[in-house]
Amino acid sequence: MSERMFHMGWFLGTGFGTYGWNQRWSGNSGKDVAKPGLFIDMARSLERAGFDYMMLEDSSQIPEVYKGSREFALSRGTLRQDPMPLVPILARATEHLGIIATMSTSFYPPYLAARLLTTQDHLTGGRVGVNLVTSSPDAAAQNYGMDKHWPHDQRYEIADEWVECVKALWNSWDDGATVADSEAGVYVDYTKVHPIHFEGEYFRSRGPLNSPPGPQRQPVICQAGGSEAGRNFGAKHAETLIASLAEDPGVEKMKAYRDDVVGRMIGFGRNPSDAKMLFLAQPIMADTDEGAREKQRSIISAQAANTEQLLAGLSGYSGLDFSKFDLDAPLEEDLADRTNGHVSLVRDFVRNASGKTLREALADRANSIGSVELVGTPETVAVQMGEIMDEVGGDGFLIRAQVTRANITEVCDGLAPALRKRGLIRSHYEFDTFRENLLAF
Ligand SMILES: Cc1cc2nc3c(=O)[nH]c(=O)nc-3n(C[C@H](O)[C@H](O)[C@H](O)COP(=O)(O)O)c2cc1C
Repeated sequence: MSERMFHMGWFLGTGFGTYGWNQRWSGNSGKDVAKPGLFIDMARSLERAGFDYMMLEDSSQIPEVYKGSREFALSRGTLRQDPMPLVPILARATEHLGIIATMSTSFYPPYLAARLLTTQDHLTGGRVGVNLVTSSPDAAAQNYGMDKHWPHDQRYEIADEWVECVKALWNSWDDGATVADSEAGVYVDYTKVHPIHFEGEYFRSRGPLNSPPGPQRQPVICQAGGSEAGRNFGAKHAETLIASLAEDPGVEKMKAYRDDVVGRMIGFGRNPSDAKMLFLAQPIMADTDEGAREKQRSIISAQAANTEQLLAGLSGYSGLDFSKFDLDAPLEEDLADRTNGHVSLVRDFVRNASGKTLREALADRANSIGSVELVGTPETVAVQMGEIMDEVGGDGFLIRAQVTRANITEVCDGLAPALRKRGLIRSHYEFDTFRENLLAF
């Protein structure tokens, strides 16, 4: 095993949704709503490529902050099925790949979450993970009966208690509780299954779970918080942290993020090698380096021309309606204080936009293609990725690209073999469970 090996994941940016329905290479995606075929093909390809996991984003509302309307989101096809039922379907089509779906600690009652994820762990043969988010839009909170969502930092306080409660439920069965002793007529030794009597500030649960632990007992916890509270939550609980430094990209920033999270993990008494940090990146590849640069130029100019998409994206992240701001006036400096959304993202955007108009800040945002630029032939990109990881110190990349079979093939059958040839990614899976493979190097 190469000492320089790193991990790979793929972030599906609109979860179990519809991808590029009116764009080239998207096949039948507009018609195949909620059909699992594309995602099954993807899972098999990622496994062929030696990926650690695929990660399905989720949220439980239709974006409506931009222009105070659902029109933009719905006309562009922003819809999402619940990713949870897709997980075992993907697991049946694969043998080794880790499958992470997103769950909100703000809305899932702990018992339902613990039980669902335990069942998923059984059904996937120990390959389930969960991306824990606190969710930000009031519209999502209102779908669950609240008037307004909790304030940002309090959401993480609630999330912390939520994890404590859910973990207690996962541990409500001792090892060896299932004895299956036919002669004595005892299937489960009841003395090894305990109520938890959890009494927190936000949650109460009696326990025990009515289901024995799966192969991993707990799913692999994934987390993407960027704020102080978010980073602390990730450093305390996550086994894979995913970071998007698109607002503030570069190798130095990646290294600083990694050092910061490592410091926090040590502060929580954890060993830094117990969590893998993956950086969001969008490789842009072609048959020649010049061809890839040309492709990069055309991606950036398409992003820049799509002002509405940029404004709607920022509105969604921040909860502030960016259609109301003057494009040619300097950006208001106190935006980060006014948001109850993805605080860290808004903070980085505002810092980078200091002294600029909103239009100029949008142009910068359109230029960004991830935590770091990866542009060239698959061989060039493989070399870039190896060098970046050497500098950052680990642990890998989370691919973000439109989910089309064309992009999947570029990454899985172009880039992955080039990485493998250089000893940078695994050639086979050593273990049966997701966690063991993730923490193997
Ligand atoms: C790669 C990545 C994936 C994310 N996936 C989701 C998601 O599926 N659902 C969600 O509500 N938020 C998601 N987020 C948002 C984060 O959970 C978090 O709110 C955001 O990074 C801002 O951090 P903060 O909450 O600490 O300010 C994601 C963020 C990143 C960088």
